[in-house]
Amino acid sequence: MKRALLTIAALSSLAVAAYGFDASTAWNDQCAKCHGKDGNGDTKMGKKLSIKNYTDASVQAGFTDEEAFKAIKLGTKDKSGKVRMKAVEGLSDDDVTALVKYFRTLKK
Ligand code: HEC
Repeated sequence: MKRALLTIAALSSLAVAAYGFDASTAWNDQCAKCHGKDGNGDTKMGKKLSIKNYTDASVQAGFTDEEAFKAIKLGTKDKSGKVRMKAVEGLSDDDVTALVKYFRTLKK
């Protein structure tokens, strides 16, 4: 019995390793400090940067998936060229696409 449990544990950690990237973990680790876990922007950084409430459907409607992809991949700057959101480093295009999908699920 113990052995069977260990096998299951080993197999499930393999499954995670094979998939590699988990958008919700990445979100909580790298994005939530500004955007908030649920995306409402109600964080210290969020207030400082006046980040929009991305749980709001009309805010989500204000940009395309391509724009979201670019924002995550390249970062965003204000009109004077000051960085607002830094480009996220070390992510493949597939990872960024997964994050865009995740970002869309924040909509209430
Ligand atoms: C340093 C704070 C900060 C972090 C960390 C951050 N963002 Fe942002 N994000 C912003 C700001 C500020 C904006 C608003 C864009 C603007 O006004 O220039 C934004 C906007 C966005 C947008 C919308 C872009 C658009 O076209 O309107 C997406 C999508 C996004 N962030 C995804 C992410 C993801 C995914 C992560 C984590 C990998 C992340 N952000 C991490 C600050 C941050």
